[in-house]
Amino acid sequence: MIRSVVRGIGSALPRRIMRNADFEGVLETSDAWIVQRTGIRQRHIAADDETTASLGEAAARAALDAAGLTVDDIDLIVLATSTPNHTFPATSVEIQERLGMRHGFAFDLQAVCSGFVYAVTTADLYLRGGLAKRVLVIGAETFSRLLDWSDRSTCVLFGDGAGALVLEAAEGEGGLADRGILAASLRSDGTHKMKLYVDGGPSTTQTVGHLRMEGREVFKHAVGMITDVIEATFATAGITADDLDWFVPHQANKRIIDASAKKLGIAEEKVVVTVDLHGNTSAASVPLALSVAVADGRIKRGDLVLLEAMGGGFTWGAVLIRW
Ligand code: UT7
Repeated sequence: MIRSVVRGIGSALPRRIMRNADFEGVLETSDAWIVQRTGIRQRHIAADDETTASLGEAAARAALDAAGLTVDDIDLIVLATSTPNHTFPATSVEIQERLGMRHGFAFDLQAVCSGFVYAVTTADLYLRGGLAKRVLVIGAETFSRLLDWSDRSTCVLFGDGAGALVLEAAEGEGGLADRGILAASLRSDGTHKMKLYVDGGPSTTQTVGHLRMEGREVFKHAVGMITDVIEATFATAGITADDLDWFVPHQANKRIIDASAKKLGIAEEKVVVTVDLHGNTSAASVPLALSVAVADGRIKRGDLVLLEAMGGGFTWGAVLIRW
């Protein structure tokens, strides 16, 4: 059977780092509060010349380099983002143009913080369906542009960045030993739509709007939703937490990550945490965390890696990959 195998990974971050202490004196907050409640120590914030398209392009180029491929080898670009450069055309098409890709096709996918997990799953279906041979899957965001910088309950949490994977169709045996995407589970529930949303949009206010979140409400649902979807993925694959080599969760809050890993029985040393470095970068958070763990040698070829995300909608999901 066809498996979607990871050929390369790359990432990109804005030049400017904003540390927790930079909020002190501007807002009624402190480094101590932010670290204790979230685990975040710093985040990258895009300058005017850094956009979702430019960060996505840089991450895509890095992933192609790591794969030893060029854009001529790619058939499809799927970009997960909630912060497109324009309402339309899709930012993926802008990235396609920036990469000099004049063939194939590209589209954006919007599932907020779960966007990358949704995009990987979508790319997997295109590859297994034979519509593409190699896909660039990108998660890129500039959430700093959506933040209300006077709201301490949200503006300290988010950051900007991008990560990208090259996935390639390859022949597998159909078993757990195959490299590539082995199982996935996706969910959404729109009854929670007002717990984490942006109060603007073309069809309503004709403005971009600002991010609004009932943090405590999101927190309350997060661990249960994350662990449910991971248990469904484990059941599909026929594995348990002990079989995993690495758990790469969405990086929103260290307390949510710790509680989810504990409930699932995933050992602390198998959990990849980058929320301290990047904050919550929405659809970029999982590929940024993956990039760090691949670059420092933790994630190696053949390792069993579990991705997970949960965010606005609510949307949530998990993907199991043999690296
Ligand atoms: O990526 C999508 C998923 N998003 C998430 O997963 C976010 C989920 N939620 C969270 O991570 C947490 O709920 C937060 C980090 C947003 C908040 O942590 P919390 O422990 O749930 O705090 P809280 O909202 O219950 O607020 C506790 C107190 C409040 O003051 P009072 O009402 O107790 O006097 C807040 O006003 O902390 C206050 N507070 C702050 N204090 C200092 C809120 N933000 C700040 C701040 N600095 N930045």
